[in-house]
Amino acid sequence: MPIPVDEHRKRHDPVSLRVSTVDPQQVAQLRRWNGLLRDGYAVGRQRVWARSDDAAIAQFQNPHPTRRSVLLLAEIDGVSVGAAEAHANPEEPADVEIAVLDGFRRQGVGRVLLGAVRGTFRTVASTIRAETYSEAGVAFALSEGLDVGVRESRQVLDLPIALAVGYTEILLSRHDPEIVHQDDTFVEERMRGRGIGRALKAANLRQLMSLPESASSRFL
Ligand SMILES: CC(C)(COP(=O)(O)OP(=O)(O)OC[C@H]1O[C@@H](n2cnc3c(N)ncnc32)[C@H](O)[C@@H]1OP(=O)(O)O)[C@@H](O)C(=O)NCCC(=O)NCCS
Repeated sequence: MPIPVDEHRKRHDPVSLRVSTVDPQQVAQLRRWNGLLRDGYAVGRQRVWARSDDAAIAQFQNPHPTRRSVLLLAEIDGVSVGAAEAHANPEEPADVEIAVLDGFRRQGVGRVLLGAVRGTFRTVASTIRAETYSEAGVAFALSEGLDVGVRESRQVLDLPIALAVGYTEILLSRHDPEIVHQDDTFVEERMRGRGIGRALKAANLRQLMSLPESASSRFL
């Protein structure tokens, strides 16, 4: 379960920056927090995959029994500007992720969020590990005393989308397997005349012959 942290306030502007813990049972708050991480990680990147709100709800409303998690939201004058997510398993480094929205960077928000995580996990983990999503992330981590470990490049690729243009079916009765019945075959009108129907039937016959039930089939 998330654990409470004290409010952390920016040193040179003690009134405006407020860091608070997110209660995963407060779904609207959890969605806002997850959305903020998503938007912060996406800055300057073209194709981004991010955890959905539903996945976040499922993850945090059913927490791992031995993992301690802290979910933090940073606000300036009531506007959400940054978020942090950190998890600590016993005997392992704590995993930390931080995102600050583009228009609010270089104002110390990231540093305050990381400070809050460090404070919370002081007695829980002796090392922290962070994922970075940009050169700004690397520069920030280095400035906070982290070393660069693994460098990975992640990309999102389009999967080829197969268009269904036809189908065919063969009926085989387990009780009467000697004869199989070539049933419907259909090819979309604009795709006809290209041998698609024949190819579908041939492929289906090959599939039929791979079934043990068709071993005694003799007629089509
Ligand atoms: C990394 C990130 C959270 C930093 O947030 P931030 O609020 O801008 O960070 P801070 O203002 O607290 O910066 C603290 C120090 O980090 C360093 N730093 C931060 N961004 C930097 C940048 N773009 N270039 C160089 N140094 C940078 C500086 O030393 C800075 O201190 P300074 O402003 O007094 O020079 C933000 O850029 C972000 O959301 N990046 C995408 C997500 C990501 O990669 N997160 C990884 C976090 S480990």
